[in-house]
Amino acid sequence: MAMGCGYDNVFAARLAAEELRAEISRHDYLYYVLNQPEISDAEYDALMAKLRAIEEHYPELVTPDSPTQRVPGQPVEAFGVVEHRLPMLSLANAFNYDDLRAWHRRAVQLAERDDFRLVVEPKIDGLAVALVYEEGRLVQGATRGDGYRGENITENLKTLRSIPLVLRANDVPERLEVRGEVYMPKEAFERLNQELAEKGEKLFMNPRNAAAGSLRQKDPRVTASRKLDIWIYQLGWCDGPHPTSHWEILQWLRELGFRVNPENRLCYSLDEVQKTWEEWVERRHHLPYEIDGLVVKIDDLELWDRLGAVGREPRWAIAYKFPPIQATTRLLDIRHNVGRTGRINPYAVLEPVLVGGVIVKQATLHNDDYIRQRDLRIGDWVVVHRAGEVIPQVVAPVPSRRTGQERPYEPPTLCPACGTELERPPGDAFSYCPNPSCPAQSFRWLTHFVQRSAMDIEGLGEKWCEALLAAGLVEDPADLYLLTMEKLLSLERMGPVLARKILASIEKSKEQPLSRVIFALGIRHIGPENAEILANEFSSIDRLAQASLEELASLPGIGPKIAESVYKWFRNERNQKVVAKLRKAGLRLEEVTEAEPVKEGPLKGLTFVFTGTLYSMPRTRAQELVKALGARASDSVTRQTDYLVVGEAPGSKLEKARKYGTKTLTEEEFLAILRQHKVNV
Ligand code: IVH
Repeated sequence: MAMGCGYDNVFAARLAAEELRAEISRHDYLYYVLNQPEISDAEYDALMAKLRAIEEHYPELVTPDSPTQRVPGQPVEAFGVVEHRLPMLSLANAFNYDDLRAWHRRAVQLAERDDFRLVVEPKIDGLAVALVYEEGRLVQGATRGDGYRGENITENLKTLRSIPLVLRANDVPERLEVRGEVYMPKEAFERLNQELAEKGEKLFMNPRNAAAGSLRQKDPRVTASRKLDIWIYQLGWCDGPHPTSHWEILQWLRELGFRVNPENRLCYSLDEVQKTWEEWVERRHHLPYEIDGLVVKIDDLELWDRLGAVGREPRWAIAYKFPPIQATTRLLDIRHNVGRTGRINPYAVLEPVLVGGVIVKQATLHNDDYIRQRDLRIGDWVVVHRAGEVIPQVVAPVPSRRTGQERPYEPPTLCPACGTELERPPGDAFSYCPNPSCPAQSFRWLTHFVQRSAMDIEGLGEKWCEALLAAGLVEDPADLYLLTMEKLLSLERMGPVLARKILASIEKSKEQPLSRVIFALGIRHIGPENAEILANEFSSIDRLAQASLEELASLPGIGPKIAESVYKWFRNERNQKVVAKLRKAGLRLEEVTEAEPVKEGPLKGLTFVFTGTLYSMPRTRAQELVKALGARASDSVTRQTDYLVVGEAPGSKLEKARKYGTKTLTEEEFLAILRQHKVNV
């Protein structure tokens, strides 16, 4: 891992090291003490890596106060200081398989054996705490602080319901300390930031800062109001008998009542660790909380003692990091596109930056309120976040990096596509172009209509949608059903093979169920889920078109804003004509009972819906299993739903189920049903 440090004489290196230390120590202060980081983790890691490289090259430059020589962080005295009986160590990082192999090789050398098993755990992006239990009762909870002394935050930690106040088993050691990571689930973080933005208060950059800010509240009632949680990942020390392998300790801690991550895994080879890591690089985005890597630990505790530590980093464990999902870059411009409903969507043009392994040049800014609440200015340094397939977003500016040259944002008053004066409905965070013939809107409407999750018309990419509109062959999506071979061939570069394919696909789309048609209409606020609710409730376009505002608003999941949007849509003359044309074309505007063949089985006649993350299996697997037993698996809760299975961090489906009085099942109850029917889980 050691490389050149970029300085060929010790004087230049000394100067650079001193500057880096000052810089790192400022960021430590901002991050650990104020919870107000100015740079991303990746940039911080890069500063540390530079300093380490210099110190490795010139060991004589290492000073006792170098950040490489201590775990940073200053305890805030006001909470009371707690001395850790055993220091809370930190972890060395591996960024690729080579780093991991180098770590393993060293451990094998020192252990003089290579047959040890490895425990792989998600590296939770939160903050470490230590909980002390005496005679099975929680007596103290503390932060890590500088590794030796932390803050006493017992009262705040007690508000976390997943921390047991009394241990479950009767036969517990006299005293023990467990260590774990407190974190804020992604959804709770989004909601908290939304509330703070509405109140005009300062936002948190990421769930970790939000968790830290929430735990270090002087008033435990505030902590209690924040949705924090904890995974226990280690036995700190123990006066009394305990298992001698880490894996067994984790199972033992779970039995004692601690929340131990079910994603932890015991691996028998380094290759297996690597495969697990590769799976997690994508899978982590589907977890309800953030993880920034995996922690790989040697299972055998006897080796922990034998291997010891280098500085504060144990040799028996390593953090195997993922590519970071946040980075900072410059906001070069704010531009707008026009959505299919005329909605004006601001987006950021960024100086290209690597986030989560991909170069990001643009990011969403959601709406004008989002920009105003964050006081984003053109020219700002901004924090960009990108997770999985989700569109990258600008999280916040870094005000301390402002030069005074930044330009405040002026929301547009005219449509960027057709120049019509924009409208802003009261209580709406967006502006809209009211011109029904706005070319940008027609284009978006058409591409929305043909997309896979709507009418699924193949062959009509954006380019052909644009060509059809430009040639005047299509003015609205219903005109697609009037296309002929001749008309299509009149388009430049259109050949008979593609034309035939498009026509066949248009014909086939007439078979799409009502819910798809409703979604394809492109009514503001109506996504696939709401479209299904409407289709289930009304079973026909005509009944939906005639529904009163009150009737619409009384449906679960359909608030007044959505109801108004649907109501208005069907009262617009142009839209009425589109529906009439679709009817004439022969689309399915009436609900036909779902054609999906239902198997014979013990659960026949029942409909299951799943929400949140299941620990035991992916949701798709759960759906397959109930279908195999004869039940239906649906994606949204309706009056027809019999059971809603609720996993970790459930979504809005749970609210709908409550409104309908649908029976809910925990994951355990669901598994019990499967087992009852002899499904092995
Ligand atoms: S073990 C000496 N396991 O990562 C080993 N740490 O960079 C001590 N963390 O301070 C830590 N998830 O805050 C361990 N499953 C896990 C973890 C984990 C998150 C954090 C913890 C620690 C930091 C080290």
